[in-house]
Amino acid sequence: MKARQYSPLDHLIMNLDQAVRTLAGKPRLTGRPDPANEWEDTDLSAKEKTESASLMRVNHAGEVAAQALYQGQALTARLEEVRSRMERAAEEENDHLEWCAERVNQLGGHLSYLNPLWYLGSFAIGAIAGAAGDKWSLGFVAETEKQVIEHLQEHLRRLPENDRKSRAVIEQMKIDEARHGAVAKAAGGVELPAPVKQLMKLASRVMTRTAYWI
Ligand SMILES: [Fe+2]
Ligand SMILES: [Fe+2]
Repeated sequence: MKARQYSPLDHLIMNLDQAVRTLAGKPRLTGRPDPANEWEDTDLSAKEKTESASLMRVNHAGEVAAQALYQGQALTARLEEVRSRMERAAEEENDHLEWCAERVNQLGGHLSYLNPLWYLGSFAIGAIAGAAGDKWSLGFVAETEKQVIEHLQEHLRRLPENDRKSRAVIEQMKIDEARHGAVAKAAGGVELPAPVKQLMKLASRVMTRTAYWI
């Protein structure tokens, strides 16, 4: 059977649909169970709950950004194979998005009010990375995931020790992000220039610090 060819307009409409789903909290999921459900609720103090909710809000905002990056890249990626790989990874990011949102809710927190901004900014960055060519685009994914893993490790240090549910979500995300990075590298992703990596770190720092509060 011949695969359907999508026009640029089809892609634009699919992207708009995806953006609305991401921001409205109705993303397409892979159907994997929420890792938090494997753990019973533990007693957390009010302060611990607030801290956990803030950190999980940051992670949720990060997943909104990841989602937008993948969608932006999928829009401009040249090879069909790269595009479909990115779309699959984006779907897995949706699981993360959902798990983080669920956890923020359980902790009585709110999601970042600036999510539409994170989405727009990241979509643009993703589209530029995609337009730069597939090897750069894939290298960008590999570097993003590497930075995300470092960030998640820091969160594991900061999260209250007995917040087993949040920790389980982060642990599973770490495994997935490492796989996304490895797939991107294996598909031909190249090492990015150091200034680009620094710029990416700076951008994510602005986002994570802001989303911690709003
Ligand atoms: Fe993710
Ligand atoms: Fe990822």
